[in-house]
Amino acid sequence: MRPLIVALALALTVPALPASAAPAESGQGVSDSRHRVRDLRDLAHKNGIRIGSAVDVAALRSESDYRHVLNREFTHLTAENAMKWESVEPERGVFTWDDADAVVANARRHGQKVRGHTLIWHNQLPAWLTEGVADGSIGPAELRTILRDHIRVQVGRYKGKIRAWDVANEIVDDEGNLRQSIWLEHLGPGYIADAFRWARQADPHAKLYLNDYNIEWNRAKIDRYLALVKELKAQRVPIDGMGFQGHLGIQYDYPGDWANVMRSFADLGLEIAVTEMDVRMVLPVTPEKLATQAEYYSRALADCLSVKSCREFTVWGFTDRHSWVPGWFEGEGAACILDEDLRPKPAYHALLATRRR
Ligand code: G3I
Repeated sequence: MRPLIVALALALTVPALPASAAPAESGQGVSDSRHRVRDLRDLAHKNGIRIGSAVDVAALRSESDYRHVLNREFTHLTAENAMKWESVEPERGVFTWDDADAVVANARRHGQKVRGHTLIWHNQLPAWLTEGVADGSIGPAELRTILRDHIRVQVGRYKGKIRAWDVANEIVDDEGNLRQSIWLEHLGPGYIADAFRWARQADPHAKLYLNDYNIEWNRAKIDRYLALVKELKAQRVPIDGMGFQGHLGIQYDYPGDWANVMRSFADLGLEIAVTEMDVRMVLPVTPEKLATQAEYYSRALADCLSVKSCREFTVWGFTDRHSWVPGWFEGEGAACILDEDLRPKPAYHALLATRRR
């Protein structure tokens, strides 16, 4: 096809953003012609940060409009499910890398960085592992070897291609205790330090993160993580970053102390990242709810921009067409910055209008 025809075909199939992306009522900044931010890539570039999205690999493969918007807007990718243990090692010793590779290959083609998600979690573990531990056929020593090998194989495969790994995901519960999991129960708390050390050995340049939800506001959880980071650092465990998932809902107050919490981790020498941002609402959608949602997204980005070491702002999916929220919270949804037809919502415009405080 000639270029003009290609452009016309794209214009017909891929939602374009309005030429005058009006700022939402976020109060975060003014958009004049000199400072107008064109899209999220431009926003990322102008602020010296990475703006990312979780990637649904099925959509990446089969939906050209999804692919187009993902690559037009984002400078950073996280595989939503494709790098989790049950995805990459569904049977013991049998690795399936196709989906994870697809994310990494897409990132290379489009100049995007990648966050690896995740090496240790209590969810989405393969049945052979959880059942083997439960029936005693996998004992503690073998479990430790399995974990070590899993980290070595996966981190080693993507050595040099993954900017940061969520090494340990959601390992503290809402009461501020280390979360009960097969890892804690069978390996003891030392599994955390081991995992970070094994990851560092497998890729010395990847940044290694803890990652969790509710640490935007839950004091017990925040304090436990601060103590944990201090303990790990005192033991010279290679830990580089704290990931704030940022799963918010407009029916709850915005976590107004979030920037200070980020700073308390930054003060320990860590990078900060917002890793899974979304803002859900009780349906139906109304203009007022969308305005509140826009304000939450904008405040979250402004909080990140106010902390020098917060250099990644990743949304957990960019379109309501593919979001985990409706499947998990009955009656809730519309959590993303674009709607199901990939039209930008007020939240998208509010992000573009957000300025560093
Ligand atoms: O792949 C199967 C498919 O074969 C089957 O037909 C279908 C039927 O339900 O399920 C599919 O698996 C689903 C999988 O997502 C892939 O779509 C699982 O049921 C579903 O439970 C799983 O949900 C994921 C969830 O993690 C699991 O805990 C969400 O997509 C994913 O967005 C979510 O992501 C987590 C982060 O990793 C960590 N932080 C919280 C965040 C939201 O829960």
